[in-house]
Parts: sequence; structure tokens; C-alpha cells
Amino acid sequence: PRPILLTRHGESMDNVRGRIGGDTELSEAGKVYSKKLANFVEKRLKSERAASIWTSTLQRTILTASPIGGGFPKIQWRALDEIYAGVCDGMTYEEIKKNMPEEYEARKKDKLRYRYPRGESYLDVIQRLEPVIIELERQRAPVVVISHQAVLRALYAYFADRPLKEIPHIEVPLHTIIEIQMGVTGVQEKRYKLMD
Ligand code: G3H
Repeated sequence: PRPILLTRHGESMDNVRGRIGGDTELSEAGKVYSKKLANFVEKRLKSERAASIWTSTLQRTILTASPIGGGFPKIQWRALDEIYAGVCDGMTYEEIKKNMPEEYEARKKDKLRYRYPRGESYLDVIQRLEPVIIELERQRAPVVVISHQAVLRALYAYFADRPLKEIPHIEVPLHTIIEIQMGVTGVQEKRYKLMD
């Protein structure tokens, strides 16, 4: 069995401000997480010479990966970028509710299918993840995936065999590693909460 390690980026400045999307840097807590994650990964994958680290193209995931040593290749995937909120990118949920109440309600009603104006829906994200999943399945060595909440909900649901309709509501907390073990007897899961 070989592990797939899933984690969100360390807390970003937009996480602190409650803004969705964007491309901000890590907060102080986020930087601490990046170091703890590096420690964990270097120990966990010490003798795994073919392991690799996959991030999105957004700086919060690249910065989270940056302290990881050990010579593992780091690969950026645009398909791992966070769900794109279109005209709502950079807003808080409060601002969306106040300024675009119809959008807010429509999303609440059907979060899976709701597509942000000029942005994406969860279904769009699930579709663009297909090549990533094919490549993950093909890898024989461990992979560390550092991505974003909506994307990781979809990836996790695929491996944990969770129904489509649950995807937008799955909890993927910050600063926690979800380890998926793909064995002959099925999929096993462990969680490591590295900090609050
Ligand atoms: O910035 C986007 C969030 O990570 C996705 O959260 O789909 O629950 O609004 P949400």
C-alpha cells in the first residue's frame, strides 16, 4: 500500500479576513503549519525516493510546500486551484449575502450545481479534477497533495467513496493531514491534526 497525503494550504491572509478566493500569502499560523508539515512529510516519506509533492498554482499552496526538503519533486497543477468564485472572488460570505442575495440563496439551495457568475460550480471542479485523479491512480509512489478546501472535498470523496451530493459539505479542516492508504483490501484513512 502507498499513501496519498491530502492537506489544505496553511492558513492564508484571506482565510484570516474571511475572504474567498484570491491569491494571498500565509498568515503567521500558516507559516508555522508549513514547517510542521515539512517535518511530518520528511519523516513519513524518508525512504520513499519516488514520492512527489503536488500543489496548485496559487501561492498559498506553493508557500506551504516550500519548506519541504528531501529532494522530492514539486509539481504545480492548475487543476488543483481552488473553486473559482468569478465575480464573487475576494468577497466575504457576508458581502455576497448583502450585495447579491439571489446568488447567496441559489448557492445555499444547491451548492453542488450552483455556478458563480463567470466562475465555477462544484461540478465544474469535479470535472477538471479528472486528469489529476487518473495520474494519482497511476502513481506507484506516495503523493502529497497540497490544495484547497473545495478541491480536496472532491478528491477525498473520490477516494473515500462518498456520494456526489455530500461533496460540498465534507469537512476538510485547516492544518490537518488526511492520509489515504490504497491497499488490496480497500481504502484506509488516518488523520493527523498538526495544530489548531
Ligand atoms: O474559497 C472557497 C472555499 O474554500 C470553498 O468553500 O464552497 O464551502 O464556500 P465553500
